[in-house]
Amino acid sequence: MKILVTGGAGFIGSNFVHLTLEKYPEHEITVIDKLTYAGNKESLKEVIDNISFVEGDICDEDLIDQLVSQNDLIVHFAAESHNDNSIADPSPFIQTNLIGTFIILEAIRKHKKKLHHISTDEVYGDLELDDPSRFTPDTPYNPSSPYSSSKAGSDMLVRAWVRTYGIHATISNCSNNYGPRQHVEKMIPRQITNILIGSKLKLYGKGENVRDWIHVDDHNTAVWQIINKGESGEIYLIGADGEKSNIEVFNLILQEMGKDETWLEHVKDRPGHDLRYAIDNTKLIEELGWSPQYTNFEDGLRATIEWYKKNEAWWKPQKDTTEAKYRKVEA
Ligand code: NAD
Ligand code: TYD
Repeated sequence: MKILVTGGAGFIGSNFVHLTLEKYPEHEITVIDKLTYAGNKESLKEVIDNISFVEGDICDEDLIDQLVSQNDLIVHFAAESHNDNSIADPSPFIQTNLIGTFIILEAIRKHKKKLHHISTDEVYGDLELDDPSRFTPDTPYNPSSPYSSSKAGSDMLVRAWVRTYGIHATISNCSNNYGPRQHVEKMIPRQITNILIGSKLKLYGKGENVRDWIHVDDHNTAVWQIINKGESGEIYLIGADGEKSNIEVFNLILQEMGKDETWLEHVKDRPGHDLRYAIDNTKLIEELGWSPQYTNFEDGLRATIEWYKKNEAWWKPQKDTTEAKYRKVEA
C-alpha cells in the first residue's frame, strides 16, 4: 500500500512511521507535515531516507488533492493537539482540526481512497472522579475545551462523509499517550525535562485529575489492527487500562529520577480542567483481537525517562520557549 501520514513529524505520527517501517516494510510512506512548533523533522531522522517527506499544510487544497490521489490510505494524525494552547488561542485549532480535516475528506471523496482518522477520548468530555463508568463508543460527545471540541467536530465530519457520501473511513479515539518524541509542553515530558534542567515539577491544582495512560506504540499497534481488520464507519476506542491520578504520575517521576517532594510545585489550575478520562476497550479487544504490550506503566515511564536523558539535543531547543509560554499563564 501507499500510505499518506499527515502530521508524521509529530509525537504519535512519527512513532507510527517508525513502527510501520519496522513491522510492515512492504508499504510506501509519504509524510505531510507543516512543521509547526510541534513538528520536528529530527523525529524522523533515522528513517528519512526510507520515506518521502513533504513539508506542507493539510489546509492546502491543491497539495492535499495531489497527495491523496497518489496514495491508497490516509492516516490522519495532523492536528493542533494541546489543550493549554487552545485556551490561549483557539484559532489554529479551528483551522487545522476542522478545515484541514474537511479538505482531506473532500480529496478522499473525489479520489475514492481510504481514511483512518485519529482522534481523542476527550471528545466525550469528562467523568466524575468517583464514577465507576468508562467511555464507550456509545457515550455522547460532550467536549470541554477548544481543543476537544475541534476534534469532536472533525470526528463528526468524518461520520457524515461516511454516511452521506459512502467514503471508506474508520475513526479511533485514544486516551493519553506517553513515550519517546513527545513535545515538552505535555505533562510527562514537561516534568522529566524540568528535573533535567534543575526546575521543579509543575502540578495543576491538587493533582486529583485522572488520565488513562497508554504507551504510544500500543496506540499505534491498535491503529494498525483497525486498518487491517476494522470496518468502514466504525468507531474504536483505544485504551490500555492505565488510569492514574496526576499526583501518582508525578510521584513516580520523582521516585524514578531520585528526587523528593520538595521538587513539586503546585501551579494555577487549567480553566475547565477535565476531571477524569477512562476508556472501555472491550470492542477493540473482542472484535479486533488487539492487546497492549506495555502493561506495566512504571517500566514504560522508566524507558521514557531514559529516552529524554539520552536525547537532550531533540528537546532542549524547545524547552525555553515552552516554559516562557507557561510562565505567562501560570503566574
Ligand atoms: P503533536 O502536536 O505532537 O503533532 C501534531 C503534528 O501535526 C505536528 O508534527 C505538526 O507539525 C503537524 N501539523 C499541525 N498542523 C498542521 C497542518 N495544518 N498541516 C500539516 N501538519 C500539521 O500531536 P500528537 O500528540 O502526535 O497527536 C497526533 C494526533 O493524535 C492528533 O490528532 C491528536 O488529536 C491525537 N491524539 C493525541 C493524544 C495524545 O495523548 N497526544 C491522544 C489521543 C489522540
Ligand atoms: P496534558 O499532557 O496536557 O494532556 P491532556 O490535557 O490532553 O490530558 O495533561 C495531562 C494532565 O496533566 C492534565 O490533567 C493536566 C495536567 N498537567 C499538569 O498537572 N502539569 C503540567 O505541566 C501539564 C502540562 C499538565
